[in-house]
Amino acid sequence: MAIPKRVRVVEVGPRDGLQNEPTLVPAADKVAFIDRLTAAGLPFIEATSFVSPRWVPQLADAALVYPAIQKKPGVIYSVLVPNLVGLQRALDAGAQHIAVFTAASETFNQHNINASVDESLVRIGAVVAAARERGIPVRGYVSTSFGCPYEGAVKASAVADVAARLFELGLTDIALGDTHGGANPTLVTEVLDAVLKRVPLETLGVHFHDTHGRALANVYVALTYGIATVDASAGGLGGCPYAPGASGNLATEDLLVMLHEMGIETGVDLSHVLEACFWMETVLGRRLTSRHLQVARAQRL
Ligand code: HMG
Ligand code: MG
Repeated sequence: MAIPKRVRVVEVGPRDGLQNEPTLVPAADKVAFIDRLTAAGLPFIEATSFVSPRWVPQLADAALVYPAIQKKPGVIYSVLVPNLVGLQRALDAGAQHIAVFTAASETFNQHNINASVDESLVRIGAVVAAARERGIPVRGYVSTSFGCPYEGAVKASAVADVAARLFELGLTDIALGDTHGGANPTLVTEVLDAVLKRVPLETLGVHFHDTHGRALANVYVALTYGIATVDASAGGLGGCPYAPGASGNLATEDLLVMLHEMGIETGVDLSHVLEACFWMETVLGRRLTSRHLQVARAQRL
């Protein structure tokens, strides 16, 4: 399979990145961050989540953030939704695109959404049906696709089962989540071999956390399968509050540098992403640690 000539970068920093920040980021700063990411030309931005504010207090302001974003035509501004309560809140805020999530392992799912995998797929079925009635497109995540922070190894066949069930619900944008950053290139091969027997290539994306610095190697393997949707988070922000030890997502700037130097187009302007990261450092009061940001910082001095 030829490596894609163009990759769609899904920016998850405002949601996956910020959800793990211990200090509350003001809603206006979240909006300004998203507007900067829009200016960078990112085609798809996961802006916030309408999960329970008790479970993720950092994103309790989703109903303030989403409507205030300056929406650029053609850009997808998605929001994460766990259930019908979340969907209603998202619709009330004006959301036009949502993402649902479940996992390939039971223990993580219980910790993350207080439901078994089967229960969560029933919930997702109801959310997808209600979204479809309103013409709202839905993305789906399969968390713990490359291992579980509680159970360890996860069978590739279990990942394929869950991905296939999301596909049967009509989802055509399914991201395989490396929730705690446990993937490695061999494991990516095993999982993709299993999933691609059940789900068409063009529906699949990859979502790696970079806990052990292997995310780019994992992306490369996914590219060799022809996968052309890759999630990343500006500055490498992030982690899941319910996946102990998980670090941030693959940094958007690290991904862009690799893809662009490989001759793969993204339509995203690296310098604007860097500006968004340096600005976010001033909001958070600390340095972000992605590899390319260190290079860019040194070059700015
Ligand atoms: P629960 O406590 O079982 O909820 O939580 P419940 O249905 O029993 O309801 C309890 C109360 O919460 C009720 O209110 C509900 O109305 C309310 P009360 O009657 O007590 O006043 N409630 C809500 N309020 C606001 N928004 C809602 C909502 N739902 C119920 N949506 C629940 C179940 C799913 C809600 C909870 O577990 C939850 O919100 N979990 C989300 C955790 C989370 O956000 N994790 C991080 C995102 S996933 C991730 O990061 C992985 C990913 O990046 C991919 C990867 O890396 O693998 C996507
Ligand atoms: Mg994630």
